[in-house]
Amino acid sequence: MSSFEAPKGTYDLIPPDSDTFNAVREALSAPLRRAGYGYIETPAFEHTGLFSRGVGESTDIVTKEMYAFTTKGGTDLALRPEGTASVLRAALQANLHRLGNLPVKLWYSGSYYRYERPQAGRYRQFSQVGAEAIGAEDPVLDAELIILAVDAYRSLGLRNFRLLLNSLGDQECRPAYRAALQDFLRGLDLDEDTRRRVDINPLRVLDDKREAVQKQLVGAPMMRDHLCEACKSYHEQVRELLTAAGADFEDDPKLVRGLDYYTRTTFEFVHDGLGSQSAVGGGGRYDGLSEMIGGPSLPSVGWALGVDRTVLALKAEGVELTPPARPDVFAVPLGDEARRVLFGAVTELRRAGVRADFAFGGKGLKNAMKSANRSGARFALVAGERDLAEGAVQLKDLGSGDQGPVALDALTTTIKEKLQ
Ligand code: HAM
Repeated sequence: MSSFEAPKGTYDLIPPDSDTFNAVREALSAPLRRAGYGYIETPAFEHTGLFSRGVGESTDIVTKEMYAFTTKGGTDLALRPEGTASVLRAALQANLHRLGNLPVKLWYSGSYYRYERPQAGRYRQFSQVGAEAIGAEDPVLDAELIILAVDAYRSLGLRNFRLLLNSLGDQECRPAYRAALQDFLRGLDLDEDTRRRVDINPLRVLDDKREAVQKQLVGAPMMRDHLCEACKSYHEQVRELLTAAGADFEDDPKLVRGLDYYTRTTFEFVHDGLGSQSAVGGGGRYDGLSEMIGGPSLPSVGWALGVDRTVLALKAEGVELTPPARPDVFAVPLGDEARRVLFGAVTELRRAGVRADFAFGGKGLKNAMKSANRSGARFALVAGERDLAEGAVQLKDLGSGDQGPVALDALTTTIKEKLQ
């Protein structure tokens, strides 16, 4: 134990859990790669203004949860609380929208930072795999992304997740709905904080988890009843495409999401085995974000899936991912000359594509064999002075216990044959 611990709300990823994490990242991104999404990586910090303008001044993420700081040079920066604003910023900066076909399809994987109250499934540093399709307004694109997420979860063997779907309208129909909702909310018995929220971000009130608030929301106007014809038809097409692809969803007229940039399609994946932090992923369309951060009009859609919570969801369902590969061969040298020779053999085996490990630290035979067994290797490669004098090493099958000499100069070919 050192005198330090990982900061509150963070945790270390160590084997074997780290292998599960990597397998989940791989599985969540595989469908994207097959669908033509290119990999993008952006800095872990950005100008604070990108998030306050992009994610929204009135969101919890910006007002309460950002790791914002001023550098020694006087620049206001923030650790990224999410990926969408950064990816769009990077695409605009590189002119990707002018250079190639639209939409520009990108995927990413990385750590994000929010100063939230830590609890099970909610961390201050967490990991997402995300996708953004920039510069096209087409219900097929919304459906594509949602289906890719569904397929990603399914490929992991996850079953008990649900897809919640809603439309938040656009600049045509949302303002009138917002005003109607505000009228309704102002007639309720709400605390001061919530009343303030009614003024700034009334849709968020629909998402209030408190029963006392939820009870009063019965009969509140819903966006779905106020959608303009264009939004209604767009949403209907998304719903039909999802149904045709067998991507089951539940219409959730109260789904509003915690970021301000959404328009039209919004969705969330929830898992019922996770308690209060049940959202394993979410996303939607953000047709106005590019203009909000100073770019041209670029209607876009995307999602981010939480890796930490997906791992928890897999655990909750008892899904075991394939364990990481064990070594094929574990070398046990007896004496200095054997250390030199076997280390050479291990290097050659690795170069030939064989997974090989070594008993480091000058262990005696008993301890070294214990390490070999513990590693889960199929074969131990044992050599002492007498073997080397005969130009051979002992190859022991750790499963059957069978052991026999193999000529050193035929070692790699022999092992490769045995492994086939
Ligand atoms: P978000 O809903 O804020 O959306 O986050 C997406 C997912 O990240 C959540 O569903 C959850 O699984 C995970 N997540 C968020 N906060 C935490 C936390 N504190 N601890 C653990 N996991 C967490 C976005 O970030 C949007 N950028 C998604 C998007 C992309 N929309 C359009 N494009």
